[in-house]
Amino acid sequence: MIPAPATRAASYRAELAHPADFEGLRRILRTALALGIPPQLLDWTITGDESLPVRHPPLPPVPDAPTPRVPKQFLELAQLAISHTSPRRFRLLHSLLIRLQVQPRLLEDRSDPEVDDAEQMAKAVSRDRHKMRAFVRFRETSDEAGPHYIAWFEPSHHVLRLDAGFFVRRFASQRWTILTPQVSAHWNRQELEWLPGASRNDAPGEDPVEEIWKTYYASTFNPARLKVKAMESEMPRKYWKNLPEAALIPQLIAQAETRSSGMIAVGTLANVRDEAQACRRCPLWQPATQTVFGEGPEGARLMIVGEQPGDQEDLQGRPFVGPAGQLLDQALAEAGIDRSSAYVTNAVKHFKFQLRGKRRLHEAPNAGEIEACRWWLDRERALVKPGLVLMLGASAGRALMGRAVAVGKERGRPIPLPDGSAGFLTVHPSYLLRLPDEAAKQAEYARFVDDLRAAKAQAGA
Ligand code: URA
Repeated sequence: MIPAPATRAASYRAELAHPADFEGLRRILRTALALGIPPQLLDWTITGDESLPVRHPPLPPVPDAPTPRVPKQFLELAQLAISHTSPRRFRLLHSLLIRLQVQPRLLEDRSDPEVDDAEQMAKAVSRDRHKMRAFVRFRETSDEAGPHYIAWFEPSHHVLRLDAGFFVRRFASQRWTILTPQVSAHWNRQELEWLPGASRNDAPGEDPVEEIWKTYYASTFNPARLKVKAMESEMPRKYWKNLPEAALIPQLIAQAETRSSGMIAVGTLANVRDEAQACRRCPLWQPATQTVFGEGPEGARLMIVGEQPGDQEDLQGRPFVGPAGQLLDQALAEAGIDRSSAYVTNAVKHFKFQLRGKRRLHEAPNAGEIEACRWWLDRERALVKPGLVLMLGASAGRALMGRAVAVGKERGRPIPLPDGSAGFLTVHPSYLLRLPDEAAKQAEYARFVDDLRAAKAQAGA
């Protein structure tokens, strides 16, 4: 039984360690929910901010306050929304949490003003994260411990804590500090330290590390996808002169404008693969072990696109190495295709599954996940430039053709892709594995090998 506070205060002080203290928020909301304290009775303060007067008693501790039941979507939403600068965010999340206890599907109602408000906050924070990744510019300094890269950035929201992990992964072997007005992050090559906010004058003003940043920029920024107008709104022209990679912009725009596909990939397969490891374009990265990127030679004549990694692929980090992959290998060999000469990848790069006990059961990706992951597939295609893209099954077909496909009807013949390049659709090997009838399995397998032979001829592989 949760003890009710002996006497009800007019308000309670809800203290967070910093403005985006998600763990603190969870602890307080759990307690408030257990005590039945409504949102208007919590007075949110950020400790360390001396300017805030202490007016109310702190929230009484409730040991073992039960964890409220909420959909995972709420945790994701709250983690982003708490990083927004709006002072309304805490009360809003508190109110949503209370309502979710009686309306578990509340978040599906986009017409609900509170849901909409939280979604808008989360979107603004996501945009700000994207800007931080794109615009943070390190400058090289050095001290007795060696090179030290320092960047100054002014985010619109509290995104540094949310995204410091990205910079740690990206620049793990360098010593760096990102200074912002609210808080600064320092990576000493082993651990991340949080330091007070700083001012622009604390950051060095000259000598951007041009080569590192041109490479980084070229591998992360895709101006053609953003289109020139959108690009200007992402990176207003007034900033361009200060950025080391600005020299690349006219060239990238020119390429963007002349490519009929409207898509361009820059960088190398290796750095796109590397970047994909930190992909958060859809929620599938969370339960998955790792991003499973494509593999094979740049310049392969044939690109083979499956659906998504399965259990084995997720663990090993390579496409088509589980049972479907073994069947594919066998069929490729029978069709005279050397797998190592083809580029093998998937429409979706993270394993999507449902947990049943200890088993992870494959779950097909939805259209949104396929669309989110097309970002990587497009870049693989632009770098490999295959003569033919062989699509295995409906998800690959959707990713490449941008529409639902009827595999049974459209398989086995050349299909032009929307950008004019050559495609070819056939069944997915898992389909063959699932066929219950042995005779049908043999016949379908033979058809599959025939399709592979036709694709090989078409690709000139
Ligand atoms: N199925 C796929 O579509 N891709 C893999 O990599 C494995 C199984």
